[in-house]
Amino acid sequence: MGNIAIDGPAGAGKSTIAKIVAKKKGYIYVDTGAMYRAMALFMIREGISPEESDKIEAACENADISIKYENDEQVVTLNGENVNGLIRTEEVSKMASSVSVNGKVRAKLVALQQKLAKETDVVMDGRDIGTVVLPDAPCKIYLTASDDVRAKRRFDELTAKGVECDINAIKKDIIERDHRDMTREISPLKKADDAVFVDCSSMTIEEVAEKVIEIAG
Ligand code: DC
Repeated sequence: MGNIAIDGPAGAGKSTIAKIVAKKKGYIYVDTGAMYRAMALFMIREGISPEESDKIEAACENADISIKYENDEQVVTLNGENVNGLIRTEEVSKMASSVSVNGKVRAKLVALQQKLAKETDVVMDGRDIGTVVLPDAPCKIYLTASDDVRAKRRFDELTAKGVECDINAIKKDIIERDHRDMTREISPLKKADDAVFVDCSSMTIEEVAEKVIEIAG
């Protein structure tokens, strides 16, 4: 199978690139972060806080997360509800990073991700795709950019949506989230030994997509 694994820190542009590459190659794009975000939304709704790991473990049994595709778009469902429009807030971002340290949550979502990748060729992005979810993927990319570039991109994205925000607060959040994602015990974010490192700080979207397609062959 020609699966493509893209890992990297928050705001590096993984999903933008993965979507373009998937379209060009005729593969399915799988956004694994969206699954952790749906799980986080479930925990927030249950009134569970990030420190309550016992409650997170117990509650994750009741969160049925799945993926379907509508008009070429990935739709994440949480107990049957389309939650695409509810999982991109800063609150959910933080909670997703916190619930994703939990081994039980990870086991549940990794199994779903591996099942999807078995059924069809995928471009899958996340934090542990090249290291844990698809260790045999023939193409692995570790996509990153400087903290300032990533904060500025997120700031521009939110501003374009009319959301008022502070670039320094965004940068602080990104750094905190990366630290948690990179230092957790289970499946931390790291470059797989056989992944190609791409720093896209001064590259355009088109240049990055072209490079990934070139690497994928
Ligand atoms: O890619 P994202 O920003 O949507 O991911 C949200 C959080 O989910 C991220 O901070 C860490 C977690 N995550 C993970 O632990 N493993 C993945 N494969 C994808 C995301």
